[in-house]
Amino acid sequence: MMQQLKETADFLKNKTGYAPEIGIVLGSGLGGLVDEIDVDHRIPYKDVPNFMSSTVEGHSGNLIFGSLGGKKIMAMQGRFHYYEGYDLHKVTFPIRVMHLMGVRTLFVSNAAGGLNKAFEVGDLMIIRDHINNFPENPLRGPNLDELGPRFPEMSETYCPELIGKAKKIAADNKIKFQTGVYIGSPGPTLETPAEYKMFRILGADSTGMSTVPEVIVARHAGMKCFGISVITNLAEPVDGPTSHEEVQKQGAAASSKMTLVFKELIRQM
Ligand code: HPA
Repeated sequence: MMQQLKETADFLKNKTGYAPEIGIVLGSGLGGLVDEIDVDHRIPYKDVPNFMSSTVEGHSGNLIFGSLGGKKIMAMQGRFHYYEGYDLHKVTFPIRVMHLMGVRTLFVSNAAGGLNKAFEVGDLMIIRDHINNFPENPLRGPNLDELGPRFPEMSETYCPELIGKAKKIAADNKIKFQTGVYIGSPGPTLETPAEYKMFRILGADSTGMSTVPEVIVARHAGMKCFGISVITNLAEPVDGPTSHEEVQKQGAAASSKMTLVFKELIRQM
């Protein structure tokens, strides 16, 4: 694994000449942030050694290298999901590549269902903590000592300083935001009403099928993490069952607010 990671990182370093400090993962329908990036390189996943191709509709699958908020960044436009059939080592491979390229702060985003009864469709939720509901952990197996410790500490998984700054940015720009706990599950089914209720009882505020494995691997490697859930639907939908199309549509609609928060936060770093 270490050899494959180095191979991919070396390929990208040679191709782009980049050593970005900031990595960004864009979730379903949230690729709009790419329009704000001054793009130097756009590399389809299929052209990146040891990468898989993203199979889900609406997840385009490019690595983007460019500038945002005055900083050099690398972004994943579309991510890999457990439900596509990849194990969590594969799902999180790009995050480790980011680390080897020099990324020390990771921004993640996702489209998520709202569990908290105070939430509305289109809200941004700043992630303050997560619950791993995947049936495995991306760090299972021999520890890659070069990257991080066997038993990573997880008490401040989402950087309190970045959360504080993000809240101020949102407030200054009159963007409504929530703060809460994200629960990540394997999917691809959305939850039954009983499962939504269970997740709420467990203490989660938003629910989705990503992010947790990526953040675990990032924290293992000592990266600072900041995440936003875009609430695309509610646990008790008002207009009938939730569809993937609705998730995409609501994601796109809220994506500009998320983009502003990410961009300004990066500018302030
Ligand atoms: N559940 C799980 N994943 C999701 C949801 C949801 O309600 N909405 C968007 N991604």
